[in-house]
Amino acid sequence: MLQLGVLASGRGSNFQAIIDSIRTGYLKAAVAVLVTDNPDAYAIQRARENGIPWLVMRPGDHPSGDEYYEAMAEELKARGVELVILAGFMRVVKPPLLRAYPMRIMNIHPALLPSFPGLHGQRQAVEYGVKVSGCTVHFVDEGVDTGPVIIQAAVPVYHDDTEESLSARILSYEHRIFPYAIRLYAEGRLEVSGRRVRILGQGRADEAIINPPVEG
Ligand code: GAR
Repeated sequence: MLQLGVLASGRGSNFQAIIDSIRTGYLKAAVAVLVTDNPDAYAIQRARENGIPWLVMRPGDHPSGDEYYEAMAEELKARGVELVILAGFMRVVKPPLLRAYPMRIMNIHPALLPSFPGLHGQRQAVEYGVKVSGCTVHFVDEGVDTGPVIIQAAVPVYHDDTEESLSARILSYEHRIFPYAIRLYAEGRLEVSGRRVRILGQGRADEAIINPPVEG
């Protein structure tokens, strides 16, 4: 069974969606460990409630960023982790972890990449005035939110949206596409070639989101 290592910095609702998908049998995987950089992360509570081992690793406890990620790679390897999941992990992953898990680190980002990378993707979308935004699951490379895209969900952005209301709309789709992307990996259906990820045996979406809707 695919062994996951989940990295989270906060609330951990995506972590919960993964736990729930495993519990229902939708996702055939196990969470070997939760690693957090934040001792107050609510994600820890979720790990506790679900009998998942967890550990706090703070960058400040290591001489450099590289050494932090080296130590993390060692922990993950020691626990048999095969795929690393960034579920609201608010840091840029550095080369030692990337080298340990090449194209085996997945991130969820709350925007349609390459639009609005970095922090506050939802706020950036509201401020820019786009009519459609969404979320993206991608493999992690050395850039900030630049790795090969696996799956995206698009949602409308309304005139009266705030960062909060758009975040909530996007989040419900995050919880759907992240477990699905991990499932595709677990089933061996993701083929990466350069920037492009081919999904084996996948149907095609044929509906567009048009916002505002075209009348008449
Ligand atoms: C999610 O919206 C996720 O897309 C975002 O943080 C939130 C974490 O929520 N991640 C990033 O912005 C990464 N740059 P959660 O802790 O409830 O899963």
